[in-house]
Amino acid sequence: MPQIFHRSFNTLSLVSIYGSVFAVAGIGWALSVLARSSYATNIGITREQPVPFSHQHHVSELGIDCRFCHTSVEDSSFAGIPPTSTCMKCHSQIWVGSKMLEPVRESYKTDQSIPWNRVHQLGDFCYFNHSIHVKKGVGCVTCHGRVDQMPLMWQDKTLLMEWCLDCHRAPEKYVRPRDKIFDMTYERKDPDEGRRLLEEYQIKSKMSCNACHR
Ligand code: HEC
Ligand code: HEC
Ligand code: HEC
Ligand code: HEC
Ligand code: HEC
Repeated sequence: MPQIFHRSFNTLSLVSIYGSVFAVAGIGWALSVLARSSYATNIGITREQPVPFSHQHHVSELGIDCRFCHTSVEDSSFAGIPPTSTCMKCHSQIWVGSKMLEPVRESYKTDQSIPWNRVHQLGDFCYFNHSIHVKKGVGCVTCHGRVDQMPLMWQDKTLLMEWCLDCHRAPEKYVRPRDKIFDMTYERKDPDEGRRLLEEYQIKSKMSCNACHR
């Protein structure tokens, strides 16, 4: 049978086939880097807020506990954003003339909540629950970073699926005693603590899709 294509064509087509495979892989790689970049995941980016509320100030300098404001974090899926009345427990007496606090006073007078902009937001197709993490020994700082050092709130972790799974696959790497959940500076000293807590709190590795996609 005569050759349909000249021999040199083989080399040429091989080169272009490989070339396009590499090009596709290259584009895929670039897209995956972009998807994980801080531009797409919002890591470290602060949001404009109606009132420049500082966690650094209220948590680290004034020493207010997270639960004073995020009251439902231990028993509900949502941590909750505090109502204006929580701020007014102090700001009806302190800093009453502050211009920065004008929207807080206005909100209290008109009974309209302050329109805080959300910083963390998973897609609707994804289920998250705070109380289960608190009960099983996952600290706020593990997922939200050093909130006590944030003059304005930012997102500290990607919140991508692979981030959730990294911990769900091996929770012993991250869990801590329950009385350290709100502690921003706790460090593990006993290297065996992870395995011990897994047993004590009966923590399982939750990898099935319907744990988070219900
Ligand atoms: C005095 C009240 C107060 C205290 C105490 C407080 N917060 Fe907040 N927190 C707020 C308010 C108000 C917002 C909404 C404005 C913002 O995002 O900064 C907020 C927002 C947040 C958010 C982002 C919510 C979103 O939009 O995604 C996180 C995470 C958070 N707080 C964690 C914590 C942690 C952890 C602690 C304890 C270390 C804490 N907060 C203590 C009042 C408080
Ligand atoms: C396992 C990771 C994880 C831990 C631990 C965690 N959070 Fe969150 N937090 C999230 C995620 C994810 C969201 C976004 C939830 C969504 O969009 O539905 C969030 C949202 C929030 C919000 C916004 C309001 C809400 O409920 O959606 C606040 C406030 C908050 N977290 C405070 C806290 C505090 C306080 C703690 C410590 C007790 C804490 N979080 C522990 C992952 C975590
Ligand atoms: C436990 C008391 C307490 C609570 C509750 C509280 N604050 Fe404050 N806040 C203070 C104190 C004290 C200061 C000022 C201290 C200083 O600057 O030395 C302050 C300062 C501020 C400032 C800066 C004001 C300025 O002009 O510099 C803002 C903004 C603010 N708070 C917003 C809020 C908001 C919003 C809430 C409710 C989510 C809130 N605070 C809840 C005690 C509190
Ligand atoms: C640092 C560790 C850690 C991270 C990060 C984390 N989780 Fe978890 N998660 C846990 C632990 C521990 C449990 C408790 C498992 C058990 O009940 O034994 C849990 C349980 C859950 C449950 C309850 C599952 C069930 O069937 O009872 C859901 C839902 C969940 N996580 C969703 C998420 C989502 C969504 C993310 C990412 C946005 C996430 N988690 C990130 C540690 C983590
Ligand atoms: C521990 C929680 C968790 C588990 C388990 C989990 N996912 Fe996800 N998944 C997430 C989160 C968080 C996102 C990203 C949500 C967002 O971007 O807002 C996500 C996103 C996705 C997406 C959208 C594409 C993407 O990567 O952003 C698909 C598809 C998906 N998951 C499928 C699955 C399948 C299939 C399984 C089982 C093999 C699974 N997930 C198990 C938490 C989980």
